[in-house]
Amino acid sequence: MNTALDHNRITIDVHLTDTHSETLDEEIRSGLLASPRSLPTKYFYDDYGSELFERICELPEYYQTRTEHALLATYADDIIHITGADELVELGSGASTKTRVLLDAMAHVNQLQFYVPFDVSEGIVRRVAQELAAEYSCLRIHGVIGDFLAHMEHIPNGGKRLVAFLGGTLGNLKPDTAEAFLASVYNEMNSGDYFLLGIQLITDIERLEAAYNDVSGLSAQFNKNILPVVHNLTGANFDPNAFEHVAIYNQPDHRIEMWLRSLCNQTITFPRLAWHLPLKAGESILTEISTKYNRQLAENVLTTAGFTLREWHTDSQELLGLALAYKP
Ligand code: SAH
Ligand code: AVI
Repeated sequence: MNTALDHNRITIDVHLTDTHSETLDEEIRSGLLASPRSLPTKYFYDDYGSELFERICELPEYYQTRTEHALLATYADDIIHITGADELVELGSGASTKTRVLLDAMAHVNQLQFYVPFDVSEGIVRRVAQELAAEYSCLRIHGVIGDFLAHMEHIPNGGKRLVAFLGGTLGNLKPDTAEAFLASVYNEMNSGDYFLLGIQLITDIERLEAAYNDVSGLSAQFNKNILPVVHNLTGANFDPNAFEHVAIYNQPDHRIEMWLRSLCNQTITFPRLAWHLPLKAGESILTEISTKYNRQLAENVLTTAGFTLREWHTDSQELLGLALAYKP
């Protein structure tokens, strides 16, 4: 761990340096050898990937962010009143844009003390910490740069906590991983702490597929950005121009799947492992799932982890759900 005091109200802990390159290579190789072949979704989010995601959030086709923002604006005061929180912990915090709605609601009732952004994308956590320290004069920020599937125990102990997981990022985890993730969130919380889950809901296929196939091509750029990230980590000779972006709705599993389909016969070489991956034209690698829920499915995953659902909010078109749950 590397702790640095960047500012008298900012602390940043970095936990990512713990991963050895051999472990990383093996993790990537095992995904590429699995059926279907896959790459870990977290590798979308280097600085450029995080910037692309921020731009996706502004797209007309990507209804999710503005819908969740509006829901938070409507219910933030109520949520802060119920939770009594003076500390906001946010998992997969990214640009923390919607977070400001919650921070403002906490500030209005003089409850705003701590913010803990937790994200794998280092540059964005550092940027947000500086921005928020300037915007909120008494706020203390303790950024955690780490993998929320591996480093959850590094959430600092704090006050009366509200843990938020917004944007529908839960849907990017496979069902068993989502279950384990929620159990580890629950484990890190104190009795009486609240968990706020923003979740994307099942809706019509046209709307869903359009959100991941925008006409400006940003989703395709975001998808292909995983290849230079994996190249930088492993040295593997992935060429983004040798792949095409595919995003389709898998109805039985109620999820969008993003794939990278090889445009030609090619061989990917992993130099440290001295390993070659032959890919045929038309063969695809799964880079992301984005599972959609309904209220029942959301309630089931929360209660399986031990949470009690306190409130459920949705927009008029039922595109986004906000579940407020607590640890009894
Ligand atoms: N919460 C924001 C950002 C969502 S994008 C919003 O609602 O708009 C998903 C975020 O989760 C990204 O910032 C990404 O870097 C982060 N993330 C993805 N996988 C992660 C992991 N395994 N550990 C920690 N952060 C992760
Ligand atoms: C972060 N996550 C919830 C986004 C989603 O909708 O699954 C990631 C994304 N992938 C492509 N566009 C957006």
